Amino acid sequence: MTVERLWLIVPAAGQGRRMGADRPKQYLSIGEKPVLARTLSRLHQAYPQASLRLCLDEDDAWFDPCWVPFGDWQRVAGGVERVDSVLQALDDLAPEAAENDLVLVHDVARPCVHPDDLQHLLETLVDEPVGGLLAVPVADTMKRADEAGRVTVTESRDGLWHALTPQGFRYGVLREALHGALDKGIRVTDEASAIEAQGLAPRLIAGRRDNLKITHPEDLLLATHILAAQAEAMTGAVVDEAE
Ligand code: CTP
Ligand code: MG
Repeated sequence: MTVERLWLIVPAAGQGRRMGADRPKQYLSIGEKPVLARTLSRLHQAYPQASLRLCLDEDDAWFDPCWVPFGDWQRVAGGVERVDSVLQALDDLAPEAAENDLVLVHDVARPCVHPDDLQHLLETLVDEPVGGLLAVPVADTMKRADEAGRVTVTESRDGLWHALTPQGFRYGVLREALHGALDKGIRVTDEASAIEAQGLAPRLIAGRRDNLKITHPEDLLLATHILAAQAEAMTGAVVDEAE
C-alpha cells in the first residue's frame, strides 16, 4: 500500500478544564513558546509534506497563525467533544481527500511526541491496511476502584496498553467509523475505538513513554523537562530548542 497524500488533523478546540489555567492549555507557554506551536513544530519536522486541518474553537481568542509552520493548512471549527472536532475536519476534507489517503490525528496537548516515533508510525502505517496508533504497554499495577475509592480488584496488566497519538487510518474508513460511532451513540475518546467498533483491529505501534498528554497542572512542568531533555539528546545542547 502507498500513501497518496498525507493529511494531518490536530484537534485543538478543547478548553483544558482539568488544567484549570487562565487559558486553554494549548496556549500555555513552555519556554516562551505555546504548547500549540511546539506540537505543530514537531509534526512539521517529521511530516513537512503533510496538509494540516487545525480544529479551533470558533470563539478562540488566543490563536496566532504565525505558529503554524505548514505551507498547506486550514482552520476548521471545533465541535462539542474531541470526536466532533475530528469529524468536522474529516467532513471538511471530503472534496479533496481520496478514500485511501492516510489521515493522522494528533492531540495538540502532546508537544513531546518524538520525531523518531512520528517517522516510525508513518513507515508502519504505509503498509498497514487497517491503520494503527502509537501506544505504550501499561507499567503500573492496575486497580479497579469502587465508588468509595477502595480497591475492588487488581486487574491483570497483561496485554494492556495506553493509547497515545498520533493515530492513523485511511480517510474513508475513519470517517465512516466515526460517523457510525456517533450514530450508535458510542462516545469515543480516540479514533481507534471507532475503528474497533467496526470489528477491525488497529495495530499497536510501541512508542516512547515521554509522549505525555498535558492534562493536569503538574504536567506542564513534566513536559518542560521532557522537551529540554529531548532537545539536549537531539542536539547535544542544553537549550530551549529552536523548533
Ligand atoms: N479537543 C478538541 N475539541 C473538543 C475537545 C477537545 O479539539 N471539543 C482536543 C483538545 O484540544 C486536545 C485533545 O482534543 O488537544 C484531547 O482532549 P483533552 O486532553 O481532553 O483536552 P481538553 O478537552 O482541552 O481538556 P479537558 O478535558 O481537561 O477540558
Ligand atoms: Mg477533554
